[in-house]
Amino acid sequence: MAVVTRARNMRASDGVREDRLWRRHMEMGAIGATPKGGVNRQALSPEDAKARALLMSWAKARGFGVAVDAIGNLFIRREGTDPAARPILTGSHLDTQPTGGKFDGAYGVLAGFEVLEALDDMGQQTRRPIELVVWMNEEGSRFQPGTVGSSVFAGSHGLNEMLAVADRAGVSVRDALAQTLAAAPAPLRPGVGFPIDGYIEAHIEQGPRLEATGKTIGVVTSVQGSRRFTIDVLGEEAHAGTTPLRARKDALSAAVSIVSALERLMHDDTDTIRFTVGRFEVFPGSPNTVPGKVHFTIDFRHPDGAVLRRLGDQIATVAAAHAKGCAVTVTDLSYVEPTVFAPEVIDLVRVSADALGLPHMDMPSGAGHDAMHINALCPTGMVFVPCLRGVSHNEAESATPSDLAAGCRVLADALVALANR
Ligand code: HGY
Ligand code: MN
Ligand code: MN
Repeated sequence: MAVVTRARNMRASDGVREDRLWRRHMEMGAIGATPKGGVNRQALSPEDAKARALLMSWAKARGFGVAVDAIGNLFIRREGTDPAARPILTGSHLDTQPTGGKFDGAYGVLAGFEVLEALDDMGQQTRRPIELVVWMNEEGSRFQPGTVGSSVFAGSHGLNEMLAVADRAGVSVRDALAQTLAAAPAPLRPGVGFPIDGYIEAHIEQGPRLEATGKTIGVVTSVQGSRRFTIDVLGEEAHAGTTPLRARKDALSAAVSIVSALERLMHDDTDTIRFTVGRFEVFPGSPNTVPGKVHFTIDFRHPDGAVLRRLGDQIATVAAAHAKGCAVTVTDLSYVEPTVFAPEVIDLVRVSADALGLPHMDMPSGAGHDAMHINALCPTGMVFVPCLRGVSHNEAESATPSDLAAGCRVLADALVALANR
């Protein structure tokens, strides 16, 4: 156990330990580990409960406070000298994509925990309490939309509205959360949301720019806007051998025509638009029955809110125009405006990276994060570190111990600066 001296001029970043941070990633990554080296730890699954329980065991060993709120956000609190002061938050998510990696989300949680441990090892006090938060259901792969915990905390979605959301098996967030809290119990913080004084989230970039430019730190300035839809096409099951094409209400044929028309709508020579149909389900899915129903998702993103509105508002009209005699229902699930982070926090992250002599660059985020919602509550920012070839939402996702520790050191000094304001 490294003994960290208490010299007055030591910074929180001096207490960050690369070996401990990496070891915790490997321990956490073993929960929901997949044969190909990734992680499948979806929101409110038994694996999610195990991950929360592991983090809480580490927190309790340090004497940190542990609590959960009504939407399942988990909080780990290190007290400040002024317990009544509004806390500074840091964190991210522990839920993953079905074919996710060890670092998306987990890095922000484990880096935040490493900051609390570094402060503890150094006996360094902060005026404000610092709380690590694990946001519930950031990914939105089991329960849609994503960023549920942070959006309810920020008031962008209603608590009961989100508790009622069900997965494809019909299990509601409410029921899955009750099972998770039974498996990984924590004292309940009544309601959702409380005053906070600042938030910084550490995350892997999930893109290739830092690696390509040889930078270690991304000073995140903004997050592009996003809109999520589901489309249900209702036709009529029929016999594949006897039903003439003219007499069919073929939901698959209509859905394919709708997706092709939407891809034409979203065509963009500058390759800035991000348009994804990630889930496409055909019912009944029998080779010799004309499909009666198709359900598919739309994930549409752009840095310019006007483009999100102009093109997103056309989706329902385009879908109806290609329905081919089927009934089409477009559900507008979520709409997150482009986020611009607080200049004071952006500067703090940049100054911290500079002071540590780490090569850095200002950059926008293409991926969505819980910080988008928290930005409406308090001064907010993010710290990025590279990931191998920018690959993420893929079991091959990878990062290096030194980059993870470097980002954690920047996070530590920036958080302490906020906590001592
Ligand atoms: O989809 C996203 O942008 C995030 O990685 N969940
Ligand atoms: Mn993430
Ligand atoms: Mn993700």
